[in-house]
Amino acid sequence: MRWGLLAAGLLAVGCGGPTTAADFGEELFQDARLSESEFNSFSCATCHGTSATPEPGHVRAGYSLYNSAFRPSWWGGYETNLLSAVNFCYVNFMRGVSPLTPEDPKSRALYEYLVSISPDTEAPALPFTVVKNIEDVPRGNASRGAEVYRTACQTCHGETHTGKGRLTELASILPEVVEDYDALFPGVPHQLVVIEKVRHGQFFGVGGSMPPYSREALSDEDLGALLAFLGL
Ligand code: HEC
Ligand code: HEC
Repeated sequence: MRWGLLAAGLLAVGCGGPTTAADFGEELFQDARLSESEFNSFSCATCHGTSATPEPGHVRAGYSLYNSAFRPSWWGGYETNLLSAVNFCYVNFMRGVSPLTPEDPKSRALYEYLVSISPDTEAPALPFTVVKNIEDVPRGNASRGAEVYRTACQTCHGETHTGKGRLTELASILPEVVEDYDALFPGVPHQLVVIEKVRHGQFFGVGGSMPPYSREALSDEDLGALLAFLGL
C-alpha cells in the first residue's frame, strides 16, 4: 500500500468511514515505510508476531504483541510506558529519525491496533533476559542449527553463502562475513563475535540495527546448534 492510500485511510478515520484507527495501525505495523529512513527495511512485523499461540516456522527476536497493550511493563521492566517501549524499536531498529510522539496519528493508530489484539487487560509483563557476558556455548546438532537459521535468521540474511532472498543488502552474508573479523577484531575468536552480535544486536556496544536475542528468544542450546550449522 502506498503512503497516499495510507493517508486516505487516516482521513477515513476522521470521517468515521469504514477504516478504523486499528485497521490503519495494522497497516502501519506491517509497513517498513513507517520509518522515513531510506536504510530501514524492517516493519514491526519483521520482528513481532501477533498471534496468541507460538508461530510454527518463526523464531523472532521480539515477543508476539498479542496481549501486549496492557502489560504493566515492557522490555523486562526497563520500560513502563508503552509508547517508549515501541519507540525503542522505532529509533534503534527502524532508524526512525525522532521518536513517535503521543499526538502523532500514527502512534495513536498503532496503539489502537495493539489494543485490538489485547483482549486480556491484566496480562502480566514478560521476562527479557539479556546475556551479559559473552562466552562460547557448546556446539549442538547441525541439522537442528539449519532449522534455527531458517526460522530465526534467514528472513533478514537470506540463504547462507549467497544471501539469496535477504530483506536488505545491509544484512551480511553468513557465515562468510566472519572472514573480515581478523582485521576488525584481532585476537577475538570468530564465534565470539557472532555470539556477541546475536545476543546484543551490536558489536560491543557499537552500531547496527539488528535486534538482540534474549535467552527467552533463543536458547544457548539453539545458538550452539546454529554455530555448528554455520561451521563456527
Ligand atoms: C528489528 C526487530 C524489531 C523491530 C523492527 C521492532 N521491534 Fe519491538 N522489540 C524487538 C525486541 C528484540 C524487543 C525485546 C523483546 C520483547 O520484549 O519483545 C522488542 C520489544 C517490543 C515491545 C515490548 C514487548 C514486551 O512486552 O516486552 C513492544 C510493545 C514492541 N517491541 C513494539 C514494536 C512495534 C510497535 C514496532 C514497530 C513500530 C516494533 N516493535 C519494531 C524487536 C523489534
Ligand atoms: C530483523 C533482521 C535480522 C535478523 C532476524 C537477524 N539479523 Fe543479523 N543482521 C541484520 C542486519 C541489518 C545486519 C547488518 C547491520 C548490523 O550490523 O546490525 C546484521 C548483521 C549481522 C552480523 C554481523 C555481520 C557483519 O557485518 O559483521 C551477524 C554475525 C549476524 N547478523 C548474525 C545473525 C544471526 C546468526 C541471526 C539469527 C539468529 C541474525 N543475524 C538475525 C539483520 C538481522
